[in-house]
Amino acid sequence: MTKRIRKAVFPVAGLGTRFLPATKSVPKEMLTVVDRPVLQHVVDEAKEAGIEHFVFVTGRGKAVIEDHFDMSYELEDTLQKRGKKKEYDALMADLPAAGATSFTRQQAPLGLGHAVWCARDIVGDEPFAVLLPDMVTMASGARKSRCLAQCVAAYEKHGGNIIAVEEVPMEETHQYGVVAIGKDEGATFEITGMVEKPPKGTAPSTSIISGRYILGPEIFDILEKQEKGAGGEIQLTDGMKTLAKKQAFHGVRFDGRTYDTGSKLGFLMANAAFALQNPELADSYRAELKKLLG
Ligand code: G1P
Repeated sequence: MTKRIRKAVFPVAGLGTRFLPATKSVPKEMLTVVDRPVLQHVVDEAKEAGIEHFVFVTGRGKAVIEDHFDMSYELEDTLQKRGKKKEYDALMADLPAAGATSFTRQQAPLGLGHAVWCARDIVGDEPFAVLLPDMVTMASGARKSRCLAQCVAAYEKHGGNIIAVEEVPMEETHQYGVVAIGKDEGATFEITGMVEKPPKGTAPSTSIISGRYILGPEIFDILEKQEKGAGGEIQLTDGMKTLAKKQAFHGVRFDGRTYDTGSKLGFLMANAAFALQNPELADSYRAELKKLLG
């Protein structure tokens, strides 16, 4: 019997340098994909996977994230008085339950491994999920669920630790964490190795770590002692490599689409893809796009 995955960690302290100047005063996680902040899409994905407690590792200049997941009394009061029921209901539907969010700060940008470690006291001694907020996933495969729900299903089957992966061309692997593939069952496979930002031409596969993880709490003690790795940062991948000496890791090939909204092209593609799925927008957006493309 596996323990239920109740808590998810969202590392949201990143500076968003790939998206300046848009992210100078607006956190990159608050840029919108159609009508929802990027981070709301990622929280929705976590909710779908059964997550009950949302742990945000924030940093300076990110206070607006906390406000987004709180009541906004004046706004809600005004919407109600003006009879804007649809808008009011939409806000209420997104509001996390009282006490279901926690916020802690990563005081210095020391890397993803350090950001996850900052959540150790809030997560405690239970397996948990990590969702990197740049990556927005969309259900499009036969299984019709987003990435974290597919990871939870794999966790219930295999136990241990889970990493979602996706395929990129070999010449892009140096930008990511990459896994080595063992016994392969298609939708899932055994991970036999991993490396963060491998030098060009050295990656063990073209399956990159795509920003969704389920990890045992044992990772925290490892991260506490983790030396700096690629880019001079404390890397989550390096911590997972150590944990993999003692515990199993499985990869999940996500059946759906992933958009890297931290890059300009990925962000634009996410907006296009979500707009084309939005019942209120899809037809007119498609028509306008056709005109634009000539
Ligand atoms: C992080 C992870 C990396 C992963 C990537 C996905 O890298 O360290 O393993 O492949 O996210 O976006 P970063 O994008 O922070 O350099």
